[in-house]
Amino acid sequence: MVGVGQRAVIARHIAESGQPARLVAAADPTERGRERARAVFGDDIRVAQTHTQLIESGAIDAAIVTSPDWTHAQIAVDLLRAGIAVYLEKPLAITLEDADAVLEAAAQTGTALYVGHNFRHSGVARAMRAVVERGEIGEVKAVWCRHFVGNGGDYYFKDWHADRSRVNSLLLQKASHDLDIIHMLAGGYTRRVVGMGGLTLYGDIADRRDRSGELMEDWFSYDNWPPLSQSGLNPVVDVEDLSMVMMTLDNGVQASYEQCHYTPDYWRNYTVIGTEGRLENFGDTGGGVVKVWTHRRGWDLAGDREYPISGVEDGHADADLLTMTEFLAHLATGAPTELSPIAAREAVATGALATRSLRDGSVPIDVPPPSDAVVRHFSRS
Ligand SMILES: NC(=O)c1ccc[n+]([C@@H]2O[C@H](COP(=O)([O-])OP(=O)(O)OC[C@H]3O[C@@H](n4cnc5c(N)ncnc54)[C@H](O)[C@@H]3O)[C@@H](O)[C@H]2O)c1
Repeated sequence: MVGVGQRAVIARHIAESGQPARLVAAADPTERGRERARAVFGDDIRVAQTHTQLIESGAIDAAIVTSPDWTHAQIAVDLLRAGIAVYLEKPLAITLEDADAVLEAAAQTGTALYVGHNFRHSGVARAMRAVVERGEIGEVKAVWCRHFVGNGGDYYFKDWHADRSRVNSLLLQKASHDLDIIHMLAGGYTRRVVGMGGLTLYGDIADRRDRSGELMEDWFSYDNWPPLSQSGLNPVVDVEDLSMVMMTLDNGVQASYEQCHYTPDYWRNYTVIGTEGRLENFGDTGGGVVKVWTHRRGWDLAGDREYPISGVEDGHADADLLTMTEFLAHLATGAPTELSPIAAREAVATGALATRSLRDGSVPIDVPPPSDAVVRHFSRS
């Protein structure tokens, strides 16, 4: 494990996966992180300060990287060049250039790279994809996603997530999941993007605090409401808390994504419109449904059919287990993976260039495809 913070809980899925893998070492630059590693993973693992020390130890075959976003690209490139397989948390990187550098390192060395876009394995994403693949709504023409990030203040504005130099923007940190799902449902990748948005609420809160040493679970509370009553925000808050992205994909599908970090409720709502109908999800965890409308009428909440969303009712531990299992099975047997580093790169490309557009007068920006060598490599592996 590289990075032993809040997300390092996914290490428990190594044993649960049933794959021939064992956690043997962890690295974190902070004493608190190393203490957590010993407390959670046990005293018999090797604990280091840096990923470089783990590489030099020769003790690891693969690494799961759960360090913060701005460290992803360098850590991944170092590991890949040392021949160590990488499970990298999303986002792949915080700039398009860095994302391409990671893919190039994987292609040049032939070392396995997997990006943890666990949302692809969620029940809601699978249910929506199944409707599209069965042809129930015809040929997909539009995908719209509204993202109500009700936990935004606690999740993203009280530590490094609020700082552009650490995340670039929340269109990478948070939206990379949805940009990936939009691409999946549309069957294409964004080639032109426009962004719009701003820091519209949290910038007005003057109460700031350096929370070094704390983790999100130390300050998270549903009682932190209304949003303007939040206190102890990160000293630097310069990412947008309200944003919109419009996309044209390589297959002509038109898509949009809206993100707000101060809604009372926390979930995502997708609409997919095809030539013969549309779908929409209500709820995005177990207990929710995907509804499908396939004949003409006026307003009708019921739809023609509805499909239950499977999985846990809160969080995404089920998708996390599937994701870890897929990575480890790929290393053990060479089984192909459903998640693709190219798709992870395209999510970063869209989010990073939408951010550039948003901060530069909302000009449309063309998204370049990955290099031929990278595409060739990942279509083989
Ligand atoms: N896929 C998902 O659903 C999901 C959910 C949550 C977080 N994440 C991702 O996991 C990553 C970590 O998020 P988090 O919430 O655990 O953050 P966190 O701040 O709680 O923990 C990060 C840990 O990494 C350590 N660290 C910092 N620099 C490091 C370095 N150079 N090398 C090794 N360790 C380093 C920190 O000391 C800290 O212990 C992020 O990239 C985030 O996007 C993904």
